[in-house]
Amino acid sequence: MPTLQEELSRLQPVDCDAGLVFGGKASGTVVRGYADATALTPRIDPHFRFPEASRDVIVWFIAPEDPLYLFGPTGCGKSSCIRQLAARLKYPVFEVTGHGRLEFADLVGHLSLKDGSMTYEYGPLALAMRYGGLFLFNEMDVIAPDVASGLHGVLDGCPLCIPENGGELIVPHPLFRFAATANTNGGGDTTGLYQGTQRQNLAFADRFLLCEMSYPDASVEEELLRERFPTLPPQLCRSMVDYANEIRRQFMGDRADGGLVHAVEVIFSTRSLLRWADLTIRYQPLARHGIQPITYALDRALAFRAGRETRAMLHELAQRMFPQAGESSPSTAGEVPLSGDAAIRFLADGLDGVDAGHCPKLHLRKTGHGPQGVTSKDWCGEARPDGMYLRFGRTGSGGQGRFVAADACCRQDPVCELRRRAARKLRDGYVLIHSENMR
Ligand SMILES: Nc1ncnc2c1ncn2[C@@H]1O[C@H](COP(=O)(O)OP(=O)(O)O)[C@@H](O)[C@H]1O
Ligand SMILES: [Mg+2]
Repeated sequence: MPTLQEELSRLQPVDCDAGLVFGGKASGTVVRGYADATALTPRIDPHFRFPEASRDVIVWFIAPEDPLYLFGPTGCGKSSCIRQLAARLKYPVFEVTGHGRLEFADLVGHLSLKDGSMTYEYGPLALAMRYGGLFLFNEMDVIAPDVASGLHGVLDGCPLCIPENGGELIVPHPLFRFAATANTNGGGDTTGLYQGTQRQNLAFADRFLLCEMSYPDASVEEELLRERFPTLPPQLCRSMVDYANEIRRQFMGDRADGGLVHAVEVIFSTRSLLRWADLTIRYQPLARHGIQPITYALDRALAFRAGRETRAMLHELAQRMFPQAGESSPSTAGEVPLSGDAAIRFLADGLDGVDAGHCPKLHLRKTGHGPQGVTSKDWCGEARPDGMYLRFGRTGSGGQGRFVAADACCRQDPVCELRRRAARKLRDGYVLIHSENMR
């Protein structure tokens, strides 16, 4: 196994076509990248939607005259955007996250004891400057002013001198890139949300190319939810995005009035939105106990961070925008389909000890993209004392029926047969969209 430094020293820079790399269509514009990925090259996220601000970042990658400073609200995708563009150019990415006690040595390196002798270990900045690659400094607006001023030379393109390593001078590699992300534009926080951010020294701030980023458009966030969580009904995805934007508007509204007190003191980031959707699916089994997964997940994704009044207001808005949130039955129109292991566990719990006399019923569906567009198949099963009744076929077609007599069922138990067959379908990509008469 080669060490990281061996791997980095073998990297081959290449000229790429910017249009091909970023958009799939040749443009004739050259951008420098690498021939191969390393352990530090970010993986491509196929669900990532490049926001408008990525245009500026791409232009910077093509001609990185100055270091880049990308700012915008928390969780809007700043770091991901830079990482995803770097991934397409196969740049190794050396990341650091700023904090109040960060020291220059955390970036450059330090002496350490190895096999009984002192050796110098390079930090992420020194590695990026020496071998080439992207140095990504996250949350850079919280670092102390003396660390910031120690970076002036590097930001100007000067060599890095390391006195602790015998005065080593690292001349920046031609593919060394410096990018920073932050919540403020460097002028300090005007919102009261980003504690610890510092007003940057003008001489420091002046060395960067500035780009601004905000939360993705509603249509983009909706697509993101649909792609990442295909079992969430599209209507629900839309309502969740509308909800997040409503909260953002409430927050911005007060700001626009010039007040420093916000109607809502939390902000609904894209990160929180994705977490909310993920938790809504994971908490789905709670619906059986009369707990609404949407609001339960909302608390854990965001509302617990808010004060009591804001939390009440978040719930009130949720009741209005998700009418089913007030109902306790899991079999409402707003029921969220369950898939995979979560659905199999849900069935195992819900059918455990249920007698065929209760006639438990399941409705599963599989949606696919065929030459005729989106198509779906249904599978409905019901266990009764005399056996298991099945109906399956194209959605809306009536389908065909089958009956498995009780003595032909697994353990002569129609409920066991229903559970076994449904689990097989769930493993085959079906999702559970409705259930009745379970525990
Ligand atoms: N345009 C987008 N496409 C896909 N995922 C996104 C997008 N924007 C944000 N995300 C997701 O939101 C989360 C937060 O993004 P991150 O880059 O950490 O935000 P920031 O650096 O602005 O705080 C990540 O999980 C990221 O994958
Ligand atoms: Mg970040």
